[in-house]
Amino acid sequence: MGMPALCGGLECEAVRCAMTSQTQEPRGELTVRTIAMPADTNANGDIFGGWVLSQMDLAGGIAGADRSHGRVVTVALDAMHFIAPVKVGDVLCVYTQVDSVGRTSMKIHVEAWARRFESRTREKVTDAVFTFVAIDEAGKPRPVPL
Ligand SMILES: CC(C)(COP(=O)(O)OP(=O)(O)OC[C@H]1O[C@@H](n2cnc3c(N)ncnc32)[C@H](O)[C@@H]1OP(=O)(O)O)[C@@H](O)C(=O)NCCC(=O)NCCS
Repeated sequence: MGMPALCGGLECEAVRCAMTSQTQEPRGELTVRTIAMPADTNANGDIFGGWVLSQMDLAGGIAGADRSHGRVVTVALDAMHFIAPVKVGDVLCVYTQVDSVGRTSMKIHVEAWARRFESRTREKVTDAVFTFVAIDEAGKPRPVPL
């Protein structure tokens, strides 16, 4: 795969991640990219699962807001398990894809990948399906536009 002439921001990261992938490819669009910091660690020195979950919630919320053209809230997420730890200095890449749209709700597939600080290789950390509901100014469900 050749390098793009212009390589900046998320697009650049997506290309670099693809080049360093070992086996599997992420599903969806790169929506959030952030660095794991020491303040986010647990007593083992690894990153809190809750921090990863919150980044996934943020990414899913961005995708849901984009799809529904407005505010959304998280109403549910399916079972998830952590495949590998995230370490300080890793870059967390969160990918999203809208799986289905109901009347007011959306199921959004969210994957978190860690790009390792030392090796620069990328590893899937976890995934889940989040359900977001589009809401109006009063916080009540509103139809998701077609
Ligand atoms: C999301 C919320 C607005 C839904 O209100 P509600 O009165 O239950 O609305 P409804 O029963 O009409 O359901 C709305 C949609 O959500 C879906 N839904 C509701 N509960 C759900 C659940 N537990 N799992 C999956 N979908 C759910 C319904 O199927 C419906 O989807 P559809 O319109 O596509 O068919 C309300 O429950 C709420 O505000 N919850 C808190 C959300 C929040 O604060 N999240 C952050 C937590 S920190």
